[in-house]
Parts: sequence; structure tokens; C-alpha cells
Amino acid sequence: MKTLLVTGGAGFIGSNFVRRMLAEHPECEIVNVDALTYAGNLENLLDVDSARYHFERADIRDRERVEAIFDKYEPDTVVNFAAESHVDRSITEPELFLTTNILGTQVLLDAAKRRWKLYPDDKYSREFKAGVRYLQVSTDEVYGALGKTGLFTESTPLAPNSPYSASKASADMMVRAYHSTYGMPVNITRCSNNYGPYQFPEKLIPLMINNCLNDKPLPVYGDGMQIRDWLHVADHCAAIDAVLTRGEAGEVYNIGGNNEMANIDIVKLILRALGKSEDLIVYVQDRPGHDRRYAIDNTKITSLLGWSPAYTFEGGMKETIAWYLDNRAWMEHIVSGAYMEYCRSMYSL
Ligand code: NAD
Ligand code: DAU
Repeated sequence: MKTLLVTGGAGFIGSNFVRRMLAEHPECEIVNVDALTYAGNLENLLDVDSARYHFERADIRDRERVEAIFDKYEPDTVVNFAAESHVDRSITEPELFLTTNILGTQVLLDAAKRRWKLYPDDKYSREFKAGVRYLQVSTDEVYGALGKTGLFTESTPLAPNSPYSASKASADMMVRAYHSTYGMPVNITRCSNNYGPYQFPEKLIPLMINNCLNDKPLPVYGDGMQIRDWLHVADHCAAIDAVLTRGEAGEVYNIGGNNEMANIDIVKLILRALGKSEDLIVYVQDRPGHDRRYAIDNTKITSLLGWSPAYTFEGGMKETIAWYLDNRAWMEHIVSGAYMEYCRSMYSL
């Protein structure tokens, strides 16, 4: 890896990944391409101060702009985090999810393919052998919902249930097709629910922490017994790094923490940690098409690539809650919208 192009690097997982890759790969230049939607926040990267880090504000659906960025930096590796990522928003605004998550992915695949095919016989293709390496950050939600037993493996049939997961599954199919048709060296990673620092407070854990801190009601969907397999964001980033450095082209890798928890138990854990009363819990109408249970079989990545989660859920949640307590200004800027002002002032949005 000489030049790594990361899309969506101003979001939750992307910003954690940028920080990790700068620290772990001192030989590597990193280009962060982000449109700065409501979920993109440059305050997530305020502590990043490296001559090896470059930011380009661009929409991955903008073919001309994306191609110009590829020409400028000549990346040998692309990791695509950029996406509309919130299931509830996909229910009210599905089209945005289709354009960003599917068409945006195709623009990136084309830009990677274009650079590679531009130089079929010169140093570029010899140096990088099989052209630009492309990794698609996907999700366990593409597999649909599990019953009380069983785990998602890489060969579980795709059965997405929300516009969000349907758009991610469609993008996965395009990535697969670029490998089968053009021989592009691609990987797809499918991870379970992440938690940790810098997560936008529309998602369960930061939303509940923030509401708790402000003595606001904690909205639990349905009966609160839906199960997710939680993984610390640093473990997700380490797994992607393992796929980039040791993964085999064309392969899909599931990533999960063997850590199934019911939503209501997480909400109660947060209440206990912050010394608040369970009276704050309010059961609200369920999410339409709400998947009951997700759980990952991570045998492939642990046995073939030697990755395993470093965090226990107990330790990870303790650290995460402490981070949100220590970074209340970060949260307040989001809630007040001030983070958008900061992005505007930096990039004349
Ligand atoms: P996020 O919503 O926090 O961040 C998304 C980032 O993408 C933002 O910075 C946003 O500005 C950027 N973006 C959105 N549309 C764009 C566009 N058209 N062009 C350029 N940039 C654009 O999301 P996240 O939770 O960090 O998730 C990142 C990726 O990981 C997504 O692809 C998501 O599907 C996947 N994923 C997330 C989780 C999770 O638990 N959060 C789990 C598995 C997989
Ligand atoms: O599984 C991976 C996916 O995890 C990622 O692909 C998505 O990008 C990410 O958003 C996440 O999706 P979920 O829908 O599982 O995450 P969310 O935080 O929105 O919800 C987690 C669970 O908590 C889910 O069962 C819905 C429930 N929930 C959520 C919110 C925001 C509540 O009960 N109340 C809430 O207010």
C-alpha cells in the first residue's frame, strides 16, 4: 500500500480507520474523499495532523470529480465506507440510498478500473500486478434476519429487508461482478453492529448515552428484544486492515465479535453506567421490517487471516461511555448543528 484512498472517512468508522491506518502504515499516503453529508463531520479528525493525510470534499456519485481525484493521487488501494448508513432514514428516503450506495459504488469501481486499464503494459500495472485493490465495506444486514439459532456465514444467501440493506446488497453484487467480469482484485467485508467513539447520535448506543445524560426519554423500538452482534469500531478497522494486507482477492469476509446482545439489555447497561433510572425507558412503535436477530460466524477471517476482536463488550462499553462523557462538546456540536458550521467554514459549503 502506497496510496490508500478512503471514502466516507469523515464518518464514524471511516474516521477511526483513517487514524488507525496513519498510525499503522507509516509508508502510506491517505486520501479521504467525503461529501460531508449530515453524517460527515470534520471534527472527527481534528487531532489528525500528518503530511501524509489529504482531504478531498467530493460526492462519490460525481464521476468527473472522482476520476480527477484518482488521476491526481493514483491510489493503489481503495476502501469504500461512503454510504447512507441509517436504516430508519432509508425507510423514509429510499432513493438517496440507491443513488449513493449503489451508483456511487459503481462510479468508484469504474474509476479504479479506468486507472488500471489506462496503463495495461507500463509500470503501473507491473508494480501493482493486478491493478487497484478495491475493498467494499458492507454489512451483515445483507443476509436478512436470523431466527433464534444459526449464524451468518459468507455463503448465507442474501435476503435484505430494508431499503438500506437492499442497497448495500446491490452494491456487493456490482463489486462481485467487477471481479468476475474484469478480474478486478476486490474484497467485500460484512461486519456486524459497531460501537465506539465518534458515532453519530442517531444510532442506538450514542443516542441512548446522549439522552441519558440529558434526562431525555430512551426510545426502545417494539419489545426491545432484537439482537445485534456488537463489535468495537477499532476491531472492525483492524479486521479491514487484515483483509487489505492478508486477504485473498475476490473473497468475502464476515466480521463479528461473537457478542450477541438484546437492545433492551444495552439500554439498561447504559442507564446503570450513568446512574440513571429505568423510568427513562419508553417503548415506542417498532421499526417497519425490523430484523429480529443478526449474528456472525467469523471463522473464516479468524482462521485464515489471524484476526480476532481485542475488546470485550464490557471493556469496550466502559471506554466508549467514558469517551462520550469526556467529549460532550463534540456531541453538543452535532445536536446544535455547529459541526456543520465548522465544515462550511473549512470548505465553503
Ligand atoms: P456514517 O453514516 O457515520 O458515515 C458515512 C460517511 O459517508 C459520512 O462521512 C458521509 O459524509 C459520507 N458520505 C455519504 N454519502 C456520500 C457520498 N455520496 N459521497 C461521499 N461521501 C459520502 O457511516 P458509518 O457508520 O461510519 O458506516 C460506514 C460504512 O460501514 C457504511 O458503508 C456502512 O454501510 C458500513 N457499516 C456500518 C456499520 C455500523 O455499525 N455503523 C456496520 C457494518 C457496516
Ligand atoms: O448490522 C450492521 C448495521 O448496524 C450497519 O450496516 C448500519 O449502518 C448500522 O446503522 C447498524 O444498523 P442497525 O439498524 O442495527 O443500528 P441502529 O443503531 O439504528 O439500531 C440498533 C438496534 O436498536 C436496532 O434493533 C433498532 C434499535 N433502536 C435503534 C434506535 C436508533 C431502538 O430500539 N431505538 C432507537 O432509537
